[in-house]
Amino acid sequence: MNEPSVAVVTGANRGLGFEVCRQLKAAGIDVVLTARDDAKGRAAALELGVRFHRLDVTRQDSVDALADWLALEFGHLDILVNNAGIMPDGGLMLRRMKMTMINEVLATNTTAPIRVTQTLMPLLLRSRLPRVVNISSALGQMARMGAGTPAYRISKAALNAATAVFAAEMAGTPVKINACCPGWVASDMGGAEAPKTLRQGAETAVWLATLPANGPTGGFFRDRARIDW
Ligand SMILES: NC(=O)c1ccc[n+]([C@@H]2O[C@H](COP(=O)([O-])OP(=O)(O)OC[C@H]3O[C@@H](n4cnc5c(N)ncnc54)[C@H](OP(=O)(O)O)[C@@H]3O)[C@@H](O)[C@H]2O)c1
Repeated sequence: MNEPSVAVVTGANRGLGFEVCRQLKAAGIDVVLTARDDAKGRAAALELGVRFHRLDVTRQDSVDALADWLALEFGHLDILVNNAGIMPDGGLMLRRMKMTMINEVLATNTTAPIRVTQTLMPLLLRSRLPRVVNISSALGQMARMGAGTPAYRISKAALNAATAVFAAEMAGTPVKINACCPGWVASDMGGAEAPKTLRQGAETAVWLATLPANGPTGGFFRDRARIDW
């Protein structure tokens, strides 16, 4: 019998990350729920019956500490879901936006998933079926770029670009890396009026996290279907 796969999910103390952990656990995967806040993360992990490790995705020392712990605990990593994200710029316009806000959004939504993927890649390369899922957004689609939440849109467009670059670099290895849009989902970020439940929103990410060897890589997906970048 194969050993259960090991998955790390970032920003998982609530919202989509929490639900991705729940669904991965239900699929028999050994889940490491991570969060920047120790108390919130521990409480969430306890609720799901999964492991917890603290992780602030914007801090390299925090990502390094997670990598060291994973190496000791499991010796490899099968699934990384880069979920942590912020959207503080609702109602703002790029032409008046403070650089500190742009930098904060890019640091969390773009640089951090690149950092976490880079740092955990040696552990992923020790897996038979390594999978990376970047939780992006249709608001980052270049094909439909527009105004509103400008730093968030730019950060997700750049995350999509990073997804394609990583996939091209990893061609010829078993690593599959894809981006997905969960749709508009009821969470703290999405608000209560959102039409999709957390369960529905997490579904495509979980599918991408558990792709078979002949599954796609370097794509952008919503509801399990490829969408335009
Ligand atoms: N909801 C939607 O409609 C929707 C649509 C498209 C894409 N998305 C994407 O889906 C992902 C999850 O969103 P959500 O709706 O679940 O939002 P959410 O409820 O606001 O959750 C965001 C999570 O990210 C965590 N986080 C933020 N900065 C972090 C950092 N530096 N280190 C570690 N964790 C950090 C938050 O932790 P704290 O509790 O500590 O703040 C929280 O757990 C995001 O990438 C978002 O852009 C959401």
